Amino acid sequence: MQLRPARPEDVPSLIDLFVDAIRVLGAQQYDEAQRAAWSRAADDRDGFGERLSAMHVLLAEQDGLLLGFLGYFEDGHMDFLYTAPAAARRGVATALHRQVEATLRAAGVTELYTEASLVARPFFEAQGYRVTEEEVLERQGVQLRRFRMRKPLA
Ligand SMILES: CC(C)(COP(=O)(O)OP(=O)(O)OC[C@H]1O[C@@H](n2cnc3c(N)ncnc32)[C@H](O)[C@@H]1OP(=O)(O)O)[C@@H](O)C(=O)NCCC(=O)NCCS
Repeated sequence: MQLRPARPEDVPSLIDLFVDAIRVLGAQQYDEAQRAAWSRAADDRDGFGERLSAMHVLLAEQDGLLLGFLGYFEDGHMDFLYTAPAAARRGVATALHRQVEATLRAAGVTELYTEASLVARPFFEAQGYRVTEEEVLERQGVQLRRFRMRKPLA
């Protein structure tokens, strides 16, 4: 597996992976209506691509195939973390997170934070994050539970 920053030409594959991860991996915790509301953010592919372009994105790939990506900001906000369903539970998200954490730590960031889905909560706990707040989002009349989580960097 290789890690590298995303380039503009990667955006269509990032969007496809985002939709796939929610549809397949999201099914562990969210019903169909909830998953549809969650992935609707990507229906406007141009707008979603612009959101991705506004953040740093590190991706993982193997033989040119996209395995996952982590979108983050320089203040320690881990915004998007998605693994291709076929590559789940093989350490893709862990590798991405490890590299971004090291980059941000070296840049002097003192705390990482995220809004984790029910699916991602155990992942972030395994990386040393703790839940600070539970919230319920409402998207197109559908409720989605998620967790604000933080990890101080010593
Ligand atoms: C959350 C997600 C990114 C994890 O990606 P991944 O590449 O499979 O994660 P890893 O293989 O690096 O997992 C590392 C550890 O995290 C924990 N973990 C990861 N996924 C888990 C799950 N579905 N249930 C329980 N624990 C999980 C485990 O401790 C795992 O270690 P193990 O496999 O040795 O038990 C992936 O499941 C995903 O894309 N989910 C759907 C989208 C989503 O919820 N994104 C986050 C938005 S906030």
